[in-house]
Amino acid sequence: MELQILLSSNKTKYKQIYEQIRKAILEKKLLAHAKLPAKRRLAEQLNLNIIAVQMAYEQLQSEGYCYSVERQGYFVSEIQDEWHTIENDTTTLKKTVQNEHVINFKSGQIDAAAFPYKQWNRLYRKELNVSNASNAAWQGEYSLREQIAKYLQHARGLTCQPEQVYIFSGFQQQFTNVCLFFNRSAIGTEDPGFIRAKFVCQQLQLQCHPISVDEEGCCVPEEPVKLLYTTPAHQYPTGTIMSIARRVELLNWAHKQDAYIIEDDYDSEFRYKGAPIPTLSHLDSTGRVLYFGTFSKTLLPSLRISYLIMPASLQQDFEKFNIHLKSTVSRIDQQVTAKFMEEGNYSSHIAKMRTLYRAKSRCLIESLYKHLGEPFEIIGDTAGLHIIVTLPEGLNEYKAIELAKSSGVEIDAVSPMHELQKPNHQVMLGYGAPTMNEIQRGVQLIANAWKNCLSN
Ligand SMILES: Cc1ncc(COP(=O)(O)O)c(C=O)c1O
Repeated sequence: MELQILLSSNKTKYKQIYEQIRKAILEKKLLAHAKLPAKRRLAEQLNLNIIAVQMAYEQLQSEGYCYSVERQGYFVSEIQDEWHTIENDTTTLKKTVQNEHVINFKSGQIDAAAFPYKQWNRLYRKELNVSNASNAAWQGEYSLREQIAKYLQHARGLTCQPEQVYIFSGFQQQFTNVCLFFNRSAIGTEDPGFIRAKFVCQQLQLQCHPISVDEEGCCVPEEPVKLLYTTPAHQYPTGTIMSIARRVELLNWAHKQDAYIIEDDYDSEFRYKGAPIPTLSHLDSTGRVLYFGTFSKTLLPSLRISYLIMPASLQQDFEKFNIHLKSTVSRIDQQVTAKFMEEGNYSSHIAKMRTLYRAKSRCLIESLYKHLGEPFEIIGDTAGLHIIVTLPEGLNEYKAIELAKSSGVEIDAVSPMHELQKPNHQVMLGYGAPTMNEIQRGVQLIANAWKNCLSN
């Protein structure tokens, strides 16, 4: 086939030659082992310096589109058909469309508008400099580890050394690492419980036992598990606070069984009634608790910074296990977070957010009482960023979510968080993201949609 190359003036010449030959090869207009025009001849034909053609051929060769034979020239390489098809086949990928007009009561969201962007920007500009170009140590930036240890001491009564603090990029990475460190041992997870914890267990193909939750919190496992994942300060999703009796029972169980407890303290900063709930780690005198914390609720989920506090007795083995790990958390973000904490901004930001979320929680509950005529029940309203609503008679979870959605309001299902007995009459409402106005309007929309259904 005669190769036709058309040059325009708005792009480098060598790039145009490279792209047009590449296209001809991919479209099979130039077949495998066909000879490309001699460099000199093509240069003359295009009225170009031979260097432009030389550069295009070299680029094609370095990417494997052609090969050269001494004193004979350049020839088209053999390329598998499937590769070409895959390269262009993006039509099957589903586009993710974000609906901007929906009122979002989905859990796991925070009030991003209240984030102190100005302070953060100032610190970011300071920290983004040439001395920060290398990666952080896999354990995390020491300055952040120090600040976390200090914060936990004064805010959660948990004493640890910075050397016991490990920085990860969120729950999943951290939990996966810990499960692997425990050699994929059998694990117990709360039922109902955090879907992402169960999902990691499935991905790792762990033997995973659902452990019931009662009014005192996570029950003592009867199954032979080496690890237990639990959320004592604010059970996810029910909001139950683990009783002191159950805490002691669990610690005794772990000690006797040579087992370990993962305490996920994901949102304990936001408690609206009474004093903060102490951590399980605080009571742990035998080094049985691995503490999980996160900045996803207190700062921004998009920061992707979480932390683990390892019992001192496991620290050396954990270091050995992870010796070749590379930090997956931006060093600059870690340093900015550390500075933010060091300057006292973190504690004041949490105090501000606690006041805001308390007001939103109240607004949500008042709106529900105002607009939902039928009897319903609210569960878990003393802390955190979500509540569970037990639906009025005649509505089930599926119907309630569909009706809310069709009126422009997104809410969460509760049944997928259960394994043993799935309730079908509860929904979850997160109030982190919506504004007060949106909360009131959203509840009114939901109530109207539900009422129509109830009166049918
Ligand atoms: C139960 C629970 N644990 C932990 C987290 C923190 O997850 P991550 O650190 O991946 O943002 C969340 C956040 O939604 C959560 O709901």
